[in-house]
Amino acid sequence: MSWLTQTLTSSIGKKVLMSLTGLFLCLFLVVHLIGNLQLFKDDGGYAFNTYAVTMTTFTPVKIISYLNYFFILFHAFWGIYLEVRNRKARNVKYNLIRNQSTWSSRNMALLGTILLVYIVVHMGDFWYKFHNEPLPYVQYTEMLSTGEVFSQVMPAGYTQDVKQVEFVNSDEGTRTVIVKDLYQTVSVAFQNFLLSFFYLLGMVAVGFHLYHGFQSAFQTLGINHPKYSPFIKAVGIWVFAFIIPAAFAAMPLYFYFKQF
Ligand code: HEM
Repeated sequence: MSWLTQTLTSSIGKKVLMSLTGLFLCLFLVVHLIGNLQLFKDDGGYAFNTYAVTMTTFTPVKIISYLNYFFILFHAFWGIYLEVRNRKARNVKYNLIRNQSTWSSRNMALLGTILLVYIVVHMGDFWYKFHNEPLPYVQYTEMLSTGEVFSQVMPAGYTQDVKQVEFVNSDEGTRTVIVKDLYQTVSVAFQNFLLSFFYLLGMVAVGFHLYHGFQSAFQTLGINHPKYSPFIKAVGIWVFAFIIPAAFAAMPLYFYFKQF
């Protein structure tokens, strides 16, 4: 058996796969958050809509996206498999460890399953609609000299072959961008109380999952150092379990309350 096969089929190797895919998903979450923060810009969705098109049409990003889908599925189902296997093998020793564990660490599989359901609903909501449904289009006119942007919803039924077209009107010093209005889809979706509430629950699950998950991934990879481990633990708790879920949660809250 090669070194790689041996490592990956060993007990720790199986956990290493969870750690590596988990850390990749943490990285995705940071990028996704930075992109989505554009929803808060007061520009009629210009920055967010053009960002969404870049993320879904630029080939290198598309390749990373497919890798991301694969890692999500792998991380979820591999995690369920390991949990089932561990439960079968559990003995008295486990009960001793249990006393030192946190609620998050004992419920990683449950939290992960909630997150899988969340991601399926979430992608059905936005990702599927963006890629497959005839969403309305919006036209932006940007004044190149000042950066000022004017938006105008395209007439109902307007469609074009691609998600975005843009051209510079050199005579007037303006740029016109006609783009699928994903911003509108997101803002209308979050006006629904139940959907927004579901998102908030999803973010609570993200927080608890990463409270244990982030630091645990480093431990599994053997990165356990008196100098660095407290820092990793603090990043796991403050950034991944608190700030990131809170920033995501602010999006449904913002659009829900904006409608009144
Ligand atoms: C609550 C705030 C969130 C908003 C407003 C939001 C918005 C969106 C939108 C508009 C899309 C489709 C466009 C695109 O692919 O970029 C998308 C895709 C996606 N979202 Fe979110 N998202 C949120 C939170 C999350 C969280 C917390 C997760 C993970 C736990 C997540 C996972 C995903 C995934 C996996 C995709 C597909 C990405 C791809 O195609 O590469 N989202 N999100």
